[in-house]
Amino acid sequence: MAGDAQSQEPQSHEPQSHEPESQDPQSQDSQSQDKGTTHFGYEQVPVAEKVTRVGQVFHSVANKYDVMNDLMSLGSHRIVKRFTVELSGVHEGQQVLDLAGGTGDFSIRFSSLVGNSGHVVLADINDSMLRVGRDRLIDKGITRNVTYAQVNAEQLPFATDSFDCVCIAYGLRNVTDKDAALRSMLAVLKPGGRALVLEFSKPRNPLVGKAYDGYSALWPVVGKLVTGDAASYRYLVESIRMHPDQETLKGMMENAGFERCRYHDVMGGVCAIHIGFKPLASH
Ligand SMILES: C[S@@+](CC[C@H](N)C(=O)[O-])C[C@H]1O[C@@H](n2cnc3c(N)ncnc32)[C@H](O)[C@@H]1O
Repeated sequence: MAGDAQSQEPQSHEPQSHEPESQDPQSQDSQSQDKGTTHFGYEQVPVAEKVTRVGQVFHSVANKYDVMNDLMSLGSHRIVKRFTVELSGVHEGQQVLDLAGGTGDFSIRFSSLVGNSGHVVLADINDSMLRVGRDRLIDKGITRNVTYAQVNAEQLPFATDSFDCVCIAYGLRNVTDKDAALRSMLAVLKPGGRALVLEFSKPRNPLVGKAYDGYSALWPVVGKLVTGDAASYRYLVESIRMHPDQETLKGMMENAGFERCRYHDVMGGVCAIHIGFKPLASH
C-alpha cells in the first residue's frame, strides 16, 4: 500500500532461543528447504510462520528502535550508513527505494540528495516501523519528496524499471526468501541502476569475531533494560549469526541477475556493503 501505513495491532510474542544444529547458513538453508522450515534466529520454524515472527519483533522494538541502535552500535551505525549512502552515488533528480527502510535513516539522507526533482519511497513490511519513520520525517519537515509503502521485499509492487537505486539496510537477513527479494529488487531497478545491501556479515579476523560475539551477547540484556523485551534482541543477535557471509551473498546477487557485484567490508567484516547493477540490456 503506497502512501500510508496500514493499521495493525502490535502483537506480543516472546521468540524462543535454541542453539542451532549448524550455524552455516548454506547448510541451514538446504536442510530447511527439505523440511519446509526456515530459521528464525536459531529456531527452525515453518516457512509461512517466519514473516509473522519477524513482524512481532519489529512491532515490539519500533518505538525504541533508534535509541537501541545508538546504544547497541555505540553510534557507529551512523557512520556506516553515511558511508553506504556515499557508495550509492545517488544524486539530484533520482528515484530511490529505501527497502526495509524502517524508521527512515536512509530516506532522510536520500531525500536531501535527490532534491525536489527526485523521489524516495520508504518501504517496509511493518506498519509500526513505517509509522515511526513517517512521523520522524514529518517532524524533520521532509514532506515533499518521500512517500511510504507497506510492502514485502519478496514481491515488490512497483513498476519494472522504476528506480535508479534500491537500498536495503539491515533488512535482508529478516526476509524469508532472500533470493526472491533480490530478484524483486532487480526487477524494479532501471537498467544500469544499482542495488546496495548493507548487512551484518562475517568478521575476517576470528578475534574480532569473538569480541563482537561477546559484545552482541549483551544486546538482549540492554534490550530488556531499555524496552523490557529481551527476546526480540536475542533474535536480532541470532539472525546476524545466521546471515550468509560476504561471498555467499555476492553469489546470491549474481544468481539473481545482478552484474558487477562487489562488496566492501566495514569494521573488519562485522558489516558488509554489497553493490550490484542491473544489466543495461538482457543478454
Ligand atoms: C533492522 S531494521 C532496519 C531498518 C533501517 N533500514 C535501518 O537501517 O535502520 C529491519 C527492517 O526490515 C523490515 N523487514 C523485515 N522483513 C521484511 C520484508 N520481508 N520486506 C520488507 N521489509 C522487511 C523490518 O520491518 C524492519 O523495519
